[in-house]
Formats: sequence, C-alpha cells, structure tokens
Amino acid sequence: MRRYVIAGNWKMNMTPNKAKALIEEMKPLVAGKDNCDVVLCVPAIDVPAAIEAAAGSNIKIGAENVHFKASGAYTGEISAEMLVEAGVEYVVIGHSERRQYFGETDQTVNLRTLAALNAGLKAIVCVGETLEQRELGYTETLLKFQTKMALTNVTAEQMKNVIIAYEPVWAIGTGVTATADQADEGNGYVRAAVAEMFGASVAEATTVQYGGSMNDKNAAELLSKENVDGGLIGGASLKSAAFAAIVEAAQ
Ligand code: PGA
Repeated sequence: MRRYVIAGNWKMNMTPNKAKALIEEMKPLVAGKDNCDVVLCVPAIDVPAAIEAAAGSNIKIGAENVHFKASGAYTGEISAEMLVEAGVEYVVIGHSERRQYFGETDQTVNLRTLAALNAGLKAIVCVGETLEQRELGYTETLLKFQTKMALTNVTAEQMKNVIIAYEPVWAIGTGVTATADQADEGNGYVRAAVAEMFGASVAEATTVQYGGSMNDKNAAELLSKENVDGGLIGGASLKSAAFAAIVEAAQ
C-alpha cells in the first residue's frame, strides 16, 4: 500500500556538468524500475542541469534544503516557491548534517516542512539518534520526539507528501550500517509516532526510509524489512551502478 522511495542525497558533491553526466549514466540503468519512486536530491546550483538531464526519465529531482520564509532578507537562502518554479519535486529537510553544522533545530525543521508542504513539495524529513543517545537508551524517545516536532501542524492530507527518513547519525557516511533489525525497529518508532499523531491508516500509508551507509550490498536485506519503505542514500548515490543496484533491490 505504501510506495517505496529510493532517494539519493548528493550532499555537497557534483558540479552542474558532473551532475548532468551522472544522470545521463543513471537514466538507462533505472529505466522501467517502476516499483519505487527514484529521486536524486542535488545541490541547488545543480538543479537546472539535473532537471534537464532527467527530463523524460523516471528520475525525479529534489533539493537538499529549503528556507521557511516565502521571501525576504535571508541572504543565501532558497524559498520553496523558487524550488517549485525550477521544477524541483522533493526536498530533504532536517538532515543530521544540517542539524550538526548549520544550527538546524526541531523547530526550524518543522517550519521548513510546513513551507515545503504548503508549496506542494514532497518533504523528506530526516530524524535520527546519535550513538551516545542510543547507548543511553533514548532511541525510541528521541525518534518519536523528532518525528512529532517535525510534523507539528501538518495536516493528515499533507501527510501524503511526507516521507520520513530514519538515519542513525552513527551510520551516516561511516560505513557502519544499522542492522536490518535496527533499521526496522527505528522505522517502527517513527511509524508509531505518526500513528499517535494522525492515526493508524495514515501511519500505514507513510513511506519511512532508512538511511546511513545503505549500499548495493546491504540494500536488499534492509528493504526486505516490514517498516523499511526505501532509502536515503548518500555515498552510494554518487555511483551510477551502486545506485541502480539499490533501485533494483526495491523492485
Ligand atoms: P550515506 O549518507 O549513505 O553516505 O551514509 C546517507 C545520508 O546522509 O542521507
């Protein structure tokens, strides 16, 4: 009933020319893989090249952040309306790197989520615990809190455009993947939080991805889990063969 979404998160990698070349390489490899949505979230400056390269294919383009105000004196920021007009369909919100390095808080994650949804974007909202929080036994508490904070004032109708990515901070870019059972459990806490806010049927219909060192070798096992409805993929989304293999694993 819920849709698998395999999304790349390029982070601060790829120039516009490199973006175009990588997408040209990926297009034939993911063509016809219709059991999941295929998304590449790219640096804002790469968006026009990525959209041009992806035209006519099943690859959809996302951004990596969005500001919560509609317009104004926010030097360096990009609004939801700007992204929509450029042809962006998805946006990553609240990635742990933004929380860690750029002062992102649960409140700003919520504001960005509302701005994205109100503009008609699909929001990929990231939550995840640090190793310290996990070792202290706060994983469930933290994931539920972050999920509920992010979704405050979102309507049940808007939940159709929300994807939540459970990304344990200790697994991002480290090569240490959560076990399939840990991913399933974390995703389950997220889904339980959605159920507490919006009811069981909305929770059942919400796509919850796993992210954190997902690659061509571990994707099939992770995706086989009941609560894992896709992946948010960093490093492996920069290589066409690896990313295509993850898309294949979702078929
Ligand atoms: P990774 O990144 O796949 O390189 O661990 C995942 C993410 O940060 O979304």
